[in-house]
Order: sequence, then structure tokens, then C-alpha cells
Amino acid sequence: MRTSYHLKVLFRTLVGGHHFCSRSQAMKAAGKQLPKIYVTRRIPPDGIKILQQSGSCEIEQWDSDDPVPRSELLKKVAGIQGLYCLLTEKIDKEVLDAAGPSLKVISTMSVGYDHLSLDDIKKRGIRVGFTPDVLTEAVAELTVALLLATSRRLIEAVDEARSGGWGTWKPLWMCGSGITGSTVGILGLGRIGEAIINRLKPFGVKKILYNDIAPRHELAAKISAEFVSLLELARQSDFLLVCCALTPDTHGVCNKQLFSNMKSNAIFINTSRGAVVNQEDLYQALVSKQIAAAGLDVTVPEPLPINHPLFKLKNCVILPHIASATVETRNAMAALAANNLLAGLKGDAMPKEVPLS
Ligand SMILES: NC(=O)c1ccc[n+]([C@@H]2O[C@H](COP(=O)([O-])OP(=O)(O)OC[C@H]3O[C@@H](n4cnc5c(N)ncnc54)[C@H](O)[C@@H]3O)[C@@H](O)[C@H]2O)c1
Repeated sequence: MRTSYHLKVLFRTLVGGHHFCSRSQAMKAAGKQLPKIYVTRRIPPDGIKILQQSGSCEIEQWDSDDPVPRSELLKKVAGIQGLYCLLTEKIDKEVLDAAGPSLKVISTMSVGYDHLSLDDIKKRGIRVGFTPDVLTEAVAELTVALLLATSRRLIEAVDEARSGGWGTWKPLWMCGSGITGSTVGILGLGRIGEAIINRLKPFGVKKILYNDIAPRHELAAKISAEFVSLLELARQSDFLLVCCALTPDTHGVCNKQLFSNMKSNAIFINTSRGAVVNQEDLYQALVSKQIAAAGLDVTVPEPLPINHPLFKLKNCVILPHIASATVETRNAMAALAANNLLAGLKGDAMPKEVPLS
């Protein structure tokens, strides 16, 4: 079934577009082979169209909304020049070995690249494309939505209204905390962190704090943010938002020590990567009311099993990794990843390349 689809994709790709046909025929006549690429998932239409219409590569694709099985991936990458992947594929030494020396470019349809073993990739001189900027607005928007859903207890309130818990109007029932007059702390003031601040400011935030690898003076002055240590960020923030990249340094950085220094009214939001948080420590902080609530778009593992203890907590709102999920954004990510791959195959500058030096 899948094999026949692969053949279909290959066929469509090889004979589909007029532009492609003439170019591929010209290349064949000149005795040149088109570079082979492997696309690890069914991707939004804007992305696959760019690849197909380029006429500059032979495409094979895993045509499913579910991830390609590891064994299939290892088989399919053999001898390819370009790999178009998603954040669900771990591209490590094993995959690189399976691909062999022909592999020149990896293009991931994500801004995070913690799923790529960059040291191994770098050693082999492989270039990497990613998708910053095009998703910044969508992720910032969702982060604000998650913050409000968590701080104003929206999910809990909807459940109460639907299940008969809505009695008479009571002064302190379903009360949360407001953003006006609050202190917002950002861990990782990058593109998304900045876009979140710009959205939160009109709510009347009193103070903006951030922690990063180093102070970002120019940006911080522009948005009136103050650089503080991680400990100070924990101590002072009413809303602590995690927006940093997942790296060996940030792995598990939101742990018992951080939560124990946070205010009891504090709301913790994570839309970066699940592994930045020690989930057991977060669970304890929420159960013991050391912090007020948490909103998570990312967890470990994903999907989080439905019997996970965090799902049982009313003060924890969990979303299924949807921060960039608008149709326009996912198409823009797919298109950028396609253009990165094609540029890399040609040896040109990629629109967005991960600096590996
Ligand atoms: N939930 C989602 O669907 C979703 C979507 C897009 C991005 N993301 C995540 O968001 C992250 C940020 O994206 P971005 O475009 O803003 O990237 P970015 O590179 O602009 O920002 C990341 C920031 O984290 C900082 N950082 C790195 N190590 C740190 C450390 N040890 N301590 C403090 N700060 C540190 C960096 O200096 C940078 O300022 C991505 O890496 C990705 O993992 C998640």
C-alpha cells in the first residue's frame, strides 16, 4: 500500500509538472542524475509544491500524518542527497551512517533543532536548514492564549459550566490572577520571547524580567526588560514563561530548585520544549501549591499518556504541542524548509541556515 504510494509520488514527481519534465529530460540527456531527497512526512501543500515544481530533485516521501518508522527511515535515507524532516525524527549518527556520504543537506520543518545531532552532522560537512521567524507570531499568540487559559482558569470554568458546577454567582469562585500590574519573567529572550512581551505589554504589565545566556542590551532597552539571574527570575515573576532553546544547559533547568523559589501565586508557562522542565518536580510544585498553576504546550514524552498524573491536576493546562498550528504558519514553515533544502542542494545560500561553525 505504502510502497505503491511511494511509487505514485515518485511517478507524479518525475512526470508531473511540465517545467520539471523538460528540466529532468534535459538533465537526463546531459547524463546527469537528479539529486534524491527523502521527505519524512506528509507536509503542507505549499512545501511539497515547491519541491515538485523545482524539477531539481527526485522526491520520495513517507505519505502519512504519522511519523515514519525508524526502520523505514534508516532504509530510505541510503544514498540520498537531501533530507526533509520534522522534529519527530531523531537525526543521529545511526541515520547519518545509514544515509552515507552522499547526504549534503538536512532541512527541518521546525525552528528548534534539538532533534538533530549537530556534532555528528558538522563532522560530515552536512548543512542544516530550519524555520525561524515564520512561526514566531503564531507561537507568541498561542503562548498568550495558554497564559490566559491557565491564569483565568478557563478550562476548569468551562468544565464546571458544562457539568453542573455553575451555581449562584459567588465572589471568590473561579478566581485566578490578572496580568495588569504583574511582573512577567522570560527565560530565553529570543524571537518568540520578544514577540510574547510585545503582546503582553498592552495588558498593563508592570515589570519585565528576563534571563538568557547573556544580557541583550539593545533589545532589552527597546522593550524595557531587565536582565536578572535565573534565581531572581524565579523569585520575582508572577508569570514565568519558558521560551529558550533546548540545549544541554537548559535540559531540566526548570526543576525543584527553580519551583521552590517561585511565588505561591506564580503561573508557569512552557511553550519551548518539554525536556527543559523536570516534570516530576513540576508535579510536586503544583500538588503542594508551591506555585499556583502551569500551562504546557510541550511535554516529555509527546503525546503525554492520558493517565499521566499531570492530567489529573486542575491547575495544569496541557495542550498537544500546537503553538505554531495555524494553517498559514504551517504552510510557511513547509515552504521555507523546502526552499532551504533546494538552496542547499544547489550549494547556494539557504534562506535560513543553522550556523554550524
Ligand atoms: N511549542 C512549539 O510548537 C514551538 C514552536 C516554535 C518554537 N518552539 C521552541 O521555542 C524555542 C525558541 O524559538 P525562537 O525562535 O525564539 O529561538 P531563538 O533562538 O530566537 O530564542 C531562543 C533563546 O533561548 C536562549 N537560550 C539558549 N540557551 C539558554 C540558556 N542556557 N539560558 C537562557 N537562555 C538560553 C537563546 O540565547 C535565545 O535568546 C525553539 O528553540 C523551540 O524549541 C516551540
